[in-house]
Amino acid sequence: MDIFEQVESEVRSYCRSFPAVFDKAEGCYIYGEDGTAYLDFFAGAGALNYGHNNPYITDKLIAYLKNNGILHALDMHTTAKRSFLEHFENSILKPRGLDYKVMFPAPTGTNAVESAFKLARKVKKRQTVFAFTGAFHGMTLGALAATSNSYNRDASGTALQGVTFMPFPYGFNKSFDTIAYMENVLTDDHSGSEIPAAVIVETVQAEGGIIPVDTEWLRRLRALCDKYGILLIVDDIQIGCGRTGDFFSFERAGIVPDMVTLSKSIGGCGLPMALLLLKPELDIWKPAEHNGTFRGNQLAFVAADAALDVLEKEDLLLHVRKAEAFLKDYIEKNILPLDPRITYRGRGLIYGIDFSALDPSGELAGKISKLCFKKNLIIERSGRNDTVLKILPPLVITEEELKKGLQIIESSAKEVLGK
Ligand SMILES: Cc1ncc(COP(=O)(O)O)c(C=O)c1O
Repeated sequence: MDIFEQVESEVRSYCRSFPAVFDKAEGCYIYGEDGTAYLDFFAGAGALNYGHNNPYITDKLIAYLKNNGILHALDMHTTAKRSFLEHFENSILKPRGLDYKVMFPAPTGTNAVESAFKLARKVKKRQTVFAFTGAFHGMTLGALAATSNSYNRDASGTALQGVTFMPFPYGFNKSFDTIAYMENVLTDDHSGSEIPAAVIVETVQAEGGIIPVDTEWLRRLRALCDKYGILLIVDDIQIGCGRTGDFFSFERAGIVPDMVTLSKSIGGCGLPMALLLLKPELDIWKPAEHNGTFRGNQLAFVAADAALDVLEKEDLLLHVRKAEAFLKDYIEKNILPLDPRITYRGRGLIYGIDFSALDPSGELAGKISKLCFKKNLIIERSGRNDTVLKILPPLVITEEELKKGLQIIESSAKEVLGK
């Protein structure tokens, strides 16, 4: 362990919650170098929907490498990119009646958000973006301006500009009519706010504490954006690619965003890749106006293409819905009865168990997650003060594996609560 502490920056994070040296991984398990098998309920923060080293995907990668497939080609046309684009268009976009152009902004989620903001400002010739309290959109300055967490914002060292936060319907604002409030802000010439270029929303706030918004709220947000000529951006970086039981998280609301950001699991097996989906009429980019060296990760194209096969072959969206029913049933029967102040919420295979009413400091949830790790389960926390235990397994998880992880959460919570 010493080399990490000696050489690696203090900024390192997840390795502090899960202090082991990992070596191998397969499916829902990740193995320490001492051979300990950890059940993974974190899935690379949502980058591993298809599990670790999904054999179908890795076989395709190995075959591509053995065939001297090109690894770096800037954003030039390649067979790997063509195959992915055809597959994505024909299997994901067309069947859903979605007409989007695809932009490859750079490898990570925050790059997709940056490009969405840049394009929205360019199209609308307006400066401001509306984001929501509790939101998380990335760490680069433009995206960080729309990220609500003061811990991350304070580290920026400069003014974070161009974003106004609207109250997300949760906590203090739970029964507040945000949409009516936003309309008032847009129409009151004394509100102090300009009409924004765009509104960005996570339909389930993930880092914010696993907080889904209801479909009617999303439809009203879409209608509000239409009425005032504002672009609607859905950030599906963490909860897209099947996580909520639909490929896109907004499908359940029957809305069509103007732009969608995707990353994490779109890369198939944890390879960096990000997409910005944009309505064709917004595509006013001039060649190379938004450029970058790593906008064509060829291995990620191969993996992403193969991952769409897995999604179809294994009927993964149906599997997620069935697994969700099992998960909810287990939590309701075994974890909620531990204390009436424990609550839970989520969608598909992203669920949060909220201990904030028991301990708003987050210490208790921290103890539970630590104990889970001792019992070989990897589980993270999110929300204000990290009070919410975040269940985010690979989507390919079996009912048996799900049960095993839930039993570890239950026994750890019991121990920490002294039950
Ligand atoms: C909703 C959302 N948007 C953006 C990001 C940023 O993605 P990345 O960490 O790949 O830059 C994340 C990362 O967790 C996210 O959850």
